[in-house]
Amino acid sequence: MSCNVEDAGMGRAVGGSEYTWCRAVPGGTGIAVLAFLLSKPPLPSSLETALHKLQNTHPILSSTLHFNSNSKASSFSFLSSSDRTIPFLKVQSFDLSATSTHLLPHHDPPVSPFQQILEHQLNHSSWNHHHHSEHTNVPVLFASIYALPDKTWAVLLRLHVAACDRTTAASLLRELLPLTIEDKEGGGEGRKKKKETSSSKISLAMEDLVPSEKGIKKGVWARAMDMIAYSLNSFRLTNLNFEDTKGRRCSQVVRLQLNRTEADRVLAGCRKKGIKLCGALTAAGLMAAHGSKKGGKKYGVVTLVDCRSTLHPPLSPHNFGFYHAAILNTHVMKGEEESLWDVAERAYEAFSNSKKSNKHFSDMADINLLMRSAMDNPGLTSSSSLRSSIISLFEDTVVDDGDCEMQREVGLEDFMGCASVHGVGPSIAMFDTIRNGCLDCVCVYPSPLHSRQQMQQFVSTMKGILVRGGQLYA
Ligand SMILES: *[C@@H]1O[C@H](CO)[C@@H](O)[C@H](O)[C@H]1NC(C)=O
Ligand SMILES: *[C@@H]1O[C@H](CO)[C@@H](O)[C@H](O)[C@H]1NC(C)=O
Repeated sequence: MSCNVEDAGMGRAVGGSEYTWCRAVPGGTGIAVLAFLLSKPPLPSSLETALHKLQNTHPILSSTLHFNSNSKASSFSFLSSSDRTIPFLKVQSFDLSATSTHLLPHHDPPVSPFQQILEHQLNHSSWNHHHHSEHTNVPVLFASIYALPDKTWAVLLRLHVAACDRTTAASLLRELLPLTIEDKEGGGEGRKKKKETSSSKISLAMEDLVPSEKGIKKGVWARAMDMIAYSLNSFRLTNLNFEDTKGRRCSQVVRLQLNRTEADRVLAGCRKKGIKLCGALTAAGLMAAHGSKKGGKKYGVVTLVDCRSTLHPPLSPHNFGFYHAAILNTHVMKGEEESLWDVAERAYEAFSNSKKSNKHFSDMADINLLMRSAMDNPGLTSSSSLRSSIISLFEDTVVDDGDCEMQREVGLEDFMGCASVHGVGPSIAMFDTIRNGCLDCVCVYPSPLHSRQQMQQFVSTMKGILVRGGQLYA
């Protein structure tokens, strides 16, 4: 008799990158949060119905992560909900007084209640599997509604990154809004409706979809050399100053925003240079980090590439899950003044050369191993900071030109999507979106390793560099 979950059609074991996230999340890295600020009170039952519909279309969202520590090596699987032992998702509601227990009136610098709730959720892991715990079985998706001061409401979705990369988050946002409206109009028939698409299975793991000519396999010797190069490089790179290496960590957020004029100019500069926005953001980050430091310094930048379109068979943005791979580049910043665009071209070229030689595929296993070795031996990293790079960002910017009328109808005032980094990770993780022509970049950092003041300063220096660089293209 088979006890293999895959044979039983009930789910599948996690792949290599998903496994790394399963290991990282209990430490505080990889808790994805999508936060909506609304000016109209959302109905918990409508939200629940809409989320159930989404779960029907995307089985990974209704799955649970199952941790098994019985076998010699601990293992994780996605269990699908088709056997109905997994309860439907329930939306948790918090009234104003319940919310206020998570709100501190005095923050210096000030932090909006919406952002405080977002940070509370980033610091809240439901997936605390540990090596010695029993079997655990935890949903990958949680939803809550918080009443906030000033007649506003926040809807928070919290997901395990193994089931939700940034492309998934962007698609989820696009698909969820129409469903919440549809439910209001069509009445509540959705709730009891049988699953129509329960036959659809959780998509395969990324490692099983890498085209063979791009080869994950590398010679043993080449692989060992790369690992040594990676660990020497990434554990000895220049860091931002650490303010408190001892305190218990949580993730906090600062925002880097450019208005339409400022964003247009930076984007025009990128077009002129034939680079993507990630090149300009990398450059501004490197320049802000290097500041007035003297002499050459080496910095690590991780760029995340959405692999969906290059997999075999290719996946679409509507295939939910984690299908990103990382490219780690090191950049030397010299003492002398350089222009934003010189640094941006250089940084982008390094990244795109790595991508052209399929480093994101060939090094996938090494990067995963590097993250796990840092988690297992924090002492390898400087001051046990667990920082593996200075910045992480995405190759492609999310463009959210959502239906304004629909957004007005639900009363959408603001949106933020990001993931926690207070376990292993960068000093600053950037989640950039172009919305109505403006750039909104949610920057997540580990606190108190870095302070809010420090990061606000960092981000405003970055903004100054981008705005000045953009003026060439006014
Ligand atoms: C983060 O969460 C942990 C455990 O849930 C809690 O003890 C800690 O106080 C929280 N930290 C912050 C800054 O919210
Ligand atoms: C954008 O911000 C600049 C300041 O950097 C300001 O001068 C300009 O008027 C703003 N433009 C728009 C369209 O808001």
